[in-house]
Amino acid sequence: MKIAIIGSGGREHAITYSISKSKKIKKIYCIPGNAGTEEIAENINLDINNFENIRDFLIENKIELVVVGPEDPLVNGIVDYLENFNIKVFGPSKKASQLEGSKIFTKNLCKKYKIPTANFGVFTNSQESIDFIKNAKHPIVIKADNLAAGKGVYICEDIQQSFKAVEEIFNGKFGDAKNLLIEEFLRGEEMSYFVISDGSTIKNFGTAQDHKRVNEGDKGKNTGGMGAYYPSRLINSDLEKKIIDKIIKPTLKGLSADNIKYKGFLYAGLMIVDNEPYLIEYNVRMGDPECQTILPVLKTDLIEIIEAIINEKLNDCILQWHDSKSLCVVLCSNGYPDKYKKNVEIQNFNSVVLDEKDFLFHAGTRKKDKKILAIGGRVLNFVSISSNFNDAREKIHKNLEKLNWKAGFYRKDIAYKVINK
Ligand code: AMP
Ligand code: GLY
Repeated sequence: MKIAIIGSGGREHAITYSISKSKKIKKIYCIPGNAGTEEIAENINLDINNFENIRDFLIENKIELVVVGPEDPLVNGIVDYLENFNIKVFGPSKKASQLEGSKIFTKNLCKKYKIPTANFGVFTNSQESIDFIKNAKHPIVIKADNLAAGKGVYICEDIQQSFKAVEEIFNGKFGDAKNLLIEEFLRGEEMSYFVISDGSTIKNFGTAQDHKRVNEGDKGKNTGGMGAYYPSRLINSDLEKKIIDKIIKPTLKGLSADNIKYKGFLYAGLMIVDNEPYLIEYNVRMGDPECQTILPVLKTDLIEIIEAIINEKLNDCILQWHDSKSLCVVLCSNGYPDKYKKNVEIQNFNSVVLDEKDFLFHAGTRKKDKKILAIGGRVLNFVSISSNFNDAREKIHKNLEKLNWKAGFYRKDIAYKVINK
């Protein structure tokens, strides 16, 4: 089978790697891919938001299956678009992708089906927002109602911060946000919960904890994710039952009441408060770096799973996992998540030593004349699986120390809550 993966991050390298193990695969293309995918697939430099060009490429090259990694093309309807040309695509439809594309869509669904989430209000202009904020008990959370690449969320400690958030959102800092949401601040611990769905059957696809803040001790600015570990320290059978019964099932039931079938990965970002789950947000894709953390522990052929979902036969598919823990540390360019230099060489690349339990997934990298250049904020993902988190992290740190990349940094405390050191 010939397959194309859309995206260029660590998540897409991990998906490409996982798929490359399948006996069913003859050739993989990555659109556009990175220096890591280039080793196992052919990178095709196309804009992931130009659906016409992607369609032409897929048809010309007789590609039989497409896997979409990031949210942007999903929310913009790439699945519906390609399916119209009889191309098989793995991922949710445009309507289903509103779960991530519109926070208000999801909040209204939560309200209608009594899905536990932070109390909220929707505001369409600055004055209304300001009037509400003046009487609100802080901290509160203010969010732009559009895809803002993980940004566009403000945790406001006082009225002044809230006013600033409202001003920035309505002045277009995050693109064209016509509405904003003001939410109650939930105090608890976050967890990423994943399922796969074929429209009627759902299966658990792992849990993880992601470290979103840039600095050690979970301090500083929000990022796409500085590292993650699997499984989440919070998961237990009682909590899992609540997540499925109170959050996932009512969501999918609510979508099907509107004739929307959900097919693909579904990622629930949850706040766990005293073993009770609250939905913070949905993502219609795998998490990044959670995907890099979870896929190495998957035993089952990923292509079999994807095909089962597309053919609506997930019920017949048995998922098997290695009995291991997994940890991922993200190496970033100095300056991330703000400004950073691009096209900086990562020297010493060959000093990294990997055994069969270690994985190195590229994110913002490209290859030029045999050199690996960093072109993004998040550059490399070091993953190790082991029976204990400490060993996994020590192996990763050894490699990061050998690499000793002066233009980058990483958090040394990933998974500190499960490592007693
Ligand atoms: P989001 O993009 O909605 O996931 O929000 C980004 C981050 O802001 C989340 O990962 C949480 O850390 C935090 N956050 C969002 N909403 C809330 C909330 N209602 N209460 C507390 N923290 C929140
Ligand atoms: N790691 C957070 C995300 O993928 O959105």
